[in-house]
Amino acid sequence: MRGRERGRGARRAGEKRGCERHAAAPPLARPSPTLPSSPSLSPLALFLLSSNFDVRAGPITSSWFTGATTNLAFNCLDRHVDAGHGDRTAFLWEGNDEGEARAVSYTDLLSLVCRISNWLLSQGVKPGDDVTLYMPMVPELPAAMLACARVGAVHSVVFAGFSAAALAARIHDSASAVVITTAAVKRGPKVIKLKAIVDEALDNADKEGHAVASVLVSSHASGPGVPARADTPMKAGRDVWWDDVIPPQAATCPPVWRGSEDPLFKLYTSGSTGKPKGVVHSTGGYMVGAAATTKFVFDARPATDVYWCTADCGWITGHTYVTYGPLLNGMTQVLFEGVPTHPDPGRVWRIVDKLKVTQLYTAPTAIRALEAAGDAWVTSSDRSSLRILGSVGEPIGPQAWHWYSDVCGGGRCPVVDTWWQTETGAHMITPLPGATPLKPGSASLPFFGVDPVLLDPTTGAVIEGPGEGVLAIRGSWPSALRALAGDPERFEATYFAPYPGFYFTGDGARRDADGYYWLIGRVDDVINVSGHRIGTAEVEAALTIHAACAEAAVVPVDHPIKGQGIYAFVTLMEGQTYPPAGDLKKELVAAVRSAIGPIAAPDAIHWAPGLPKTRSGKIMRRILRKIAGGGGLADMGDTSTLADPGVVDVLLGLKGK
Ligand code: WTA
Repeated sequence: MRGRERGRGARRAGEKRGCERHAAAPPLARPSPTLPSSPSLSPLALFLLSSNFDVRAGPITSSWFTGATTNLAFNCLDRHVDAGHGDRTAFLWEGNDEGEARAVSYTDLLSLVCRISNWLLSQGVKPGDDVTLYMPMVPELPAAMLACARVGAVHSVVFAGFSAAALAARIHDSASAVVITTAAVKRGPKVIKLKAIVDEALDNADKEGHAVASVLVSSHASGPGVPARADTPMKAGRDVWWDDVIPPQAATCPPVWRGSEDPLFKLYTSGSTGKPKGVVHSTGGYMVGAAATTKFVFDARPATDVYWCTADCGWITGHTYVTYGPLLNGMTQVLFEGVPTHPDPGRVWRIVDKLKVTQLYTAPTAIRALEAAGDAWVTSSDRSSLRILGSVGEPIGPQAWHWYSDVCGGGRCPVVDTWWQTETGAHMITPLPGATPLKPGSASLPFFGVDPVLLDPTTGAVIEGPGEGVLAIRGSWPSALRALAGDPERFEATYFAPYPGFYFTGDGARRDADGYYWLIGRVDDVINVSGHRIGTAEVEAALTIHAACAEAAVVPVDHPIKGQGIYAFVTLMEGQTYPPAGDLKKELVAAVRSAIGPIAAPDAIHWAPGLPKTRSGKIMRRILRKIAGGGGLADMGDTSTLADPGVVDVLLGLKGK
């Protein structure tokens, strides 16, 4: 877990470079002598874990490796450099515009992280302080995350697609004194002035009574339409340019050793109420979860792999499977700034071929978008470097799974469909490639040490053997969330009160006779038709089996006889007009009837040239439910987090067509 275990040779190498970062290395990790005694658990077991997931037995707690100390930046960087891998590439950055590229070695990244760390220290940032990052996917973003980790600050990365109001709320909530951002960035053909959004957010936060002391601004994007440095307003005394203050900093900085249970980061995520939840992750447990799952689920071979996770660091996937997991494993990875379909849907496959990508980890929404663009974009590429394909974020469904596996992977690459959440920190239910027999559409089996259970939603009784219920987790796992920032009541009420004794995931799942888990979707997305529970994801998967259907989103709608009816929004393959000619609605309903049964036949099909999605690609079902229920534009509520708010108008115009 920590530096001292590496032996004398490595320490001498560090000293020779004039690096003082080991000076503060603490003694070997060992159980704390202050641990509570337990008649049933050995000191080692208590060191590994002490937890309570039962609200009836007292406060919810989860502690791993109690008393041990470590540092994430040290384990992501120094450890590999000391082992002689400093020249290995950490990031192969691919910019938004094709042809923009950079390579960053482990040695370069360590120096950069130390410089940022020293600047943070110069601003008075102390262990436990929050720092907000609002940046595009450039190497400076994971470097800034690691710099926070190095000095013991808690990073709060806000996805750079969030609005000024959303950013302000998050800065205010975490009381960050320091914000790191980028002047402007290009996303596809659009230029987005991030610094202007930060300025607006800080004005908002100011009005709420929270003043940010320092803003560090990197100037990244170049090219037409991007403001020059002189055209980016800077507030004297608060804002500084990265290029002015970071390069002069010392390239070494001793890591601040952190307790295993000290917070590493906070990440805001949407809940059932309007206020986002600040999910807090720990240091030691999170590190172990990120490192172990990356190693086993992606079969990490650091010396030869070129791993690529397309997620943005603004989401949990970009935390665990861009910044931390791959670097903890000493891997080389692609860092992609752009969007998979810019300038055309062949971009992903050109990057795969150019950089000889070995693992590709992306989301079903991207897979479906690429599929809708046509196979030729894929089949015209080589892709022979690919070993493993990964999926995350939503149920992939057998149809997209097969397309991903057969067309993208040429039938050679295992598909790891990884189920997990912001709250779980790391993969929970996932195949291990090459070891787990795959079933298309199933996330398969729990990862080591994870104990999933299915519960009867009404009684909370544990379902044994094959069955369907709400998915919960029995007992803690290392990378479990430790808290919701500043809201212990909500933490217990959301995750532990619904089913005492268990962590409640909010997802529904089915377990088959082989013990494989099939995620059905959020339990709030389960439709109850005439007393039969039908997963929206199951109906969606059935619809996408039809050759004309690119994507579907199914929501419940009130039905006078059945209680709830099934209402399906359907996006057709590229080139179709809306409404389409012929009897396509009947065919789609027939496809569902034949895949699941007449009970699941949609009551309505609503043509959807686009679906209302957040910038991270999640469908906003709340809006679809309103449209399905007959709501007009005024009933839609907050649509500001939509990637394209115009899509709502289009959908309203197609109602009943
Ligand atoms: C869904 C993303 C089915 C699920 C890592 C979960 C999935 C929510 C899968 C968490 C999967 C994630 N199959 N559903 N492989 N992965 N989900 O917090 O509903 O953004 O509860 O974390 O995404 O979303 P979050």
